[in-house]
Amino acid sequence: MEYFASSDIPAVLEYTKNFYFLDDNEFSVIEKDNISFFNKKLNIIYKNYKTIDLNYSSSTKNGYDNFMLKEIFEQPRAIIDTIDKYISSENQRSQWCNSQVGIDENNNSTILNYPSIFNKQFAFPDFDLTKDDLIIIRQIYIVACGTAMHAGLVGKNIIEKLCKIPTYVEIASEFRYQDPIINENTLCIFISQSGETADTIAALKLAKGMGCKTIAITNVIGSSITREAHFSFYTYAGPEISVASTKAYTCQIALICCFAIYMAQILESSNYSILEEFRKELLSLPEKIHAILQNQEKIKDIAKQCYLQKDLFFLGRGIDYSVSLEGSLKLKEISYIHSEAYAAGELKHGPIALIENGVYVVGILTDTKLTLKTISNLQEVISRGAKTFVITNQKLPNINFDFVFTIPKTNVFLSPILSVIPLQLFSYYIAKEKGLDIDKPRNLAKSVTVE
Ligand code: AGP
Repeated sequence: MEYFASSDIPAVLEYTKNFYFLDDNEFSVIEKDNISFFNKKLNIIYKNYKTIDLNYSSSTKNGYDNFMLKEIFEQPRAIIDTIDKYISSENQRSQWCNSQVGIDENNNSTILNYPSIFNKQFAFPDFDLTKDDLIIIRQIYIVACGTAMHAGLVGKNIIEKLCKIPTYVEIASEFRYQDPIINENTLCIFISQSGETADTIAALKLAKGMGCKTIAITNVIGSSITREAHFSFYTYAGPEISVASTKAYTCQIALICCFAIYMAQILESSNYSILEEFRKELLSLPEKIHAILQNQEKIKDIAKQCYLQKDLFFLGRGIDYSVSLEGSLKLKEISYIHSEAYAAGELKHGPIALIENGVYVVGILTDTKLTLKTISNLQEVISRGAKTFVITNQKLPNINFDFVFTIPKTNVFLSPILSVIPLQLFSYYIAKEKGLDIDKPRNLAKSVTVE
């Protein structure tokens, strides 16, 4: 018998799938053939191990140069695995499981082949709130840090659209020191890939103490956040090793969408055709991501032309602004290029003063209602000498953008799951051109377990 002590599951997945989880103020004594657990009063406590259903290969690079690139390419499979866990029928589930998404060793791309089945019902069996419990919810807070908070921004739009409940997104480190108006009519959702982020956990404890129901959305089974929240929903992205979060973001949005559809059905807050449209689009996303990934060479070429930039700006409106924030964060983290994301309409309220000859501006244009507005902002930066890289799902008027990258169409509320893919690749290939340590960028840690 062998025992290992580790602070993270992937570290020892090569040797075991059985894990004991220690809570705060607990410790264990490992002897040659025995393990025992104690609380802080030195009383013995009994624990059962949990079997973690992850492959060792999911925590290796598997032929990729970096974990980040591998994790970007894992997104079609990660989303399928996440959605699959919240589909009610075993029968339907097996149809997904028979699908194949793997790595083509020759060209580093993802092979995707699964049946298209659109009539799925989402189910959250561990979430035992009834219609009577949900009908009294007057507001929802989504609280998180960094990329998880950016996923929350997209989730807010989906929840408000489908469930018609006002939803506020808060940065955990701010929320925990505010005096939020929370009571039994509030639902608080905390998103954390690692489930160990100190600020997010502190915010959860604060909200729980004020009498609301709490939900944790995390990628790590048994993580600290799951021991605090009333309900835990897992993304099944597999271990995310790269410090820069990629697949967790897209899976978090996919999961929130499943949950919003589920709640909307209970609350009868959206009509059937709208929910069907969301469900159908959600299920089509893995294939669309796959198509974008097949086109990665184009992004690589664009990255080669701007990796020496000192500053880069991201512009978008509405949901495209939310994803601009994520694109900008990704670039900062791994390429060390200064970048800012602005709501395009804010440009002339100050940021346009930063635009000068040769500066790069990335525009995201996926919301047809807002396209012409954002185009007009992009024309303003072009006329001041900026170079433009536009990510869109539409045929655009004939404007002299320097680069245009086209992504498949989808429901506008879900478009960040697609538009973020070229943004992730863009950051990745810029950092690669600069020869940086992509998986372990300077000054950053994967889990921020201190304030
Ligand atoms: C993402 O690329 C970052 N490394 C960081 O912003 C991260 O999302 C944040 O620290 C939150 O982490 P969590 O999801 O594990 O709570």
